[in-house]
Order: sequence, then C-alpha cells, then structure tokens
Amino acid sequence: MSRRLEGQIAIVTGSSSGNGRAIAVALAREGATILCSDIRPTALAGGYETDREVPTHEAIVNAGGKAAYQQADASKAVDVEALVSRAVALYGRLDIMVNNAGVFTAVHTILEETEEQYDFTMNVNAKGVWLGCKYAIGQMMKQTPRADGTRGRIINIASIGGLVGLALEPAYCASKGAVVNLTRQLAVDFSPHRINVNAICPGFLATAMVRPFLEDKTFNETLHALTPYPRLGTPEDVAKSAVFLASDDAEWIAGSMLTLDGAFTAR
Ligand SMILES: NC(=O)c1ccc[n+]([C@@H]2O[C@H](COP(=O)([O-])OP(=O)(O)OC[C@H]3O[C@@H](n4cnc5c(N)ncnc54)[C@H](O)[C@@H]3O)[C@@H](O)[C@H]2O)c1
Repeated sequence: MSRRLEGQIAIVTGSSSGNGRAIAVALAREGATILCSDIRPTALAGGYETDREVPTHEAIVNAGGKAAYQQADASKAVDVEALVSRAVALYGRLDIMVNNAGVFTAVHTILEETEEQYDFTMNVNAKGVWLGCKYAIGQMMKQTPRADGTRGRIINIASIGGLVGLALEPAYCASKGAVVNLTRQLAVDFSPHRINVNAICPGFLATAMVRPFLEDKTFNETLHALTPYPRLGTPEDVAKSAVFLASDDAEWIAGSMLTLDGAFTAR
C-alpha cells in the first residue's frame, strides 16, 4: 500500500513528548520527512513514553524514516522564523505545519491565577500557534504548489478547552479559544490559495501534561465520568487524526475543528 504522505516535508512543534512525539512518528510512518522541534530534545520525565531518552528524530530515523531536530521556542518569533527557514534549507519546502507545543500551569480559578501564569500560557499556546501559522503560511505562499495545486496543510492542536469552559482552567481555555478562532480566520484568508488550516480539539489524554490528574483518584474518576466513551484518549488517537488532516483525503476540510474527546463535549 502506498504511503499517504510520501515525499512531503513537515514541521512538528513540541515534538519531544506526548502528542507532538506521536504525531511526528505517525507522519514519518506515512512517508513524510519531519523537522522535529522543541525546547528540549528528549521527552518530559512525566510522560508515558517507554523510550523517553531517545529523541523523537532519532526514534524516527531508527525506524527507517527521515527526520532532523531544531531547538525552537514556539513562543519566540526569531526561533519560529529560523525553524521554517531550516526546513527549507534542509529539504527545499514545507508542506505540513503542526503547531502542537503547549503548556498547562495548574488548576485554579481566575482568582488564584497569576498574571505570569496567564502571560506564559497565552505566549506558548496562543501566540506560539499564531507564529507557527504566520511563518509556515508565508513559506507555503512563496513555494511552488504541489502537482495537485494544493499549497500546504496547517494543523493546530487546540483542545476541548477551546470549545467549552473547563472547570478551573481559565488561561488555558482562553488560549485554546484563541487557537480555535485563529484557525477559522486563517482558513477564510488562505483556503482560496489552497492552504488548509484546521485544528484538532482533544479531550483528556494520557501525557505528561495530564499525568498528575490521572494519578489523583478523585480527578481520574471525574475525567472518566465526564467522558462517555469507556476509555480516555491517547497521543496515538491525536496522531491518527493529524495524519488524516495532512492527507489528500482531507483536501476539502478547511477551517474545521476535529473534536476528539470520547463524546465529552457531546453532552
Ligand atoms: N494531554 C491532553 O490531555 C491534551 C488535551 C488537549 C490538548 N492538548 C494539547 O496538546 C498539545 C501537546 O500536549 P501534551 O499533552 O503532549 O503535552 P506535554 O506537556 O506532554 O508535551 C508538550 C511538549 O511541548 C514542549 N514545549 C513546551 N513549551 C514549548 C515551547 N515554548 N516551545 C516548544 N516546545 C515546547 C515540551 O517540552 C514538551 O515536549 C498541547 O498544545 C496541549 O495543550 C493536550
């Protein structure tokens, strides 16, 4: 069977852990060449990866795929611009941009949340996606379109926290709401140029970000009770959706939020 992303060039931000790592590995398995990018080369200590000490690009290369790594803080314009330039310098173009890097500080109401926590969350989650879109779309507009006329795919990792209010997550929900509506706005401006901008809105998944809650009995039971499907999500669930949105099968999907939450938001 032919691979769905053969010959395409992708950047994944926050690729060292959790969702970003699973997305990078899955895109590579479908034939894409991946420029992995993160603020640290190896997975976060709290993650569920069994090969945490192996950087994602090395795991991809060890499995027979093509990948490189560039350190980049997704919230810094100079880093993101350099990241896109590196993809072009290494591989000549950019077909797929996955804006995945994100942070979560703590559960609290707005009364306890500090200005520093708000600024940090908005900088990485909202501004980081804005920067990733800005520089990736700039490159996609400059380069020769693919043979089918399409110019590129942008996949933003938002959250159900961008669609509904999640208890005790004020800045996080504000940041993901920004990602959701930026995704729609960019789809309006760039669909005419055949650049697809979409977002994935996952529910609760087993990654380092959520581990403290999964290990807390009360939180764990609450998350399961709020999720009608009998299990919570995994980074691999997110990765499969990212492969789909990057593939030709999703050509007419633009400005969409792919909700991936075991029916959490269907209630
Ligand atoms: N885990 C969940 O339940 C869940 C649910 C919905 C959405 N998400 C979103 O998925 C994305 C990935 O989350 P995860 O659960 O894999 O998180 P994680 O904390 O397990 O991994 C995040 C990765 O991003 C990197 N990172 C952090 N700040 C960065 C920055 N400024 N620049 C570049 N890289 C940075 C980290 O080093 C880490 O490797 C985030 O946007 C998150 O909000 C997660």
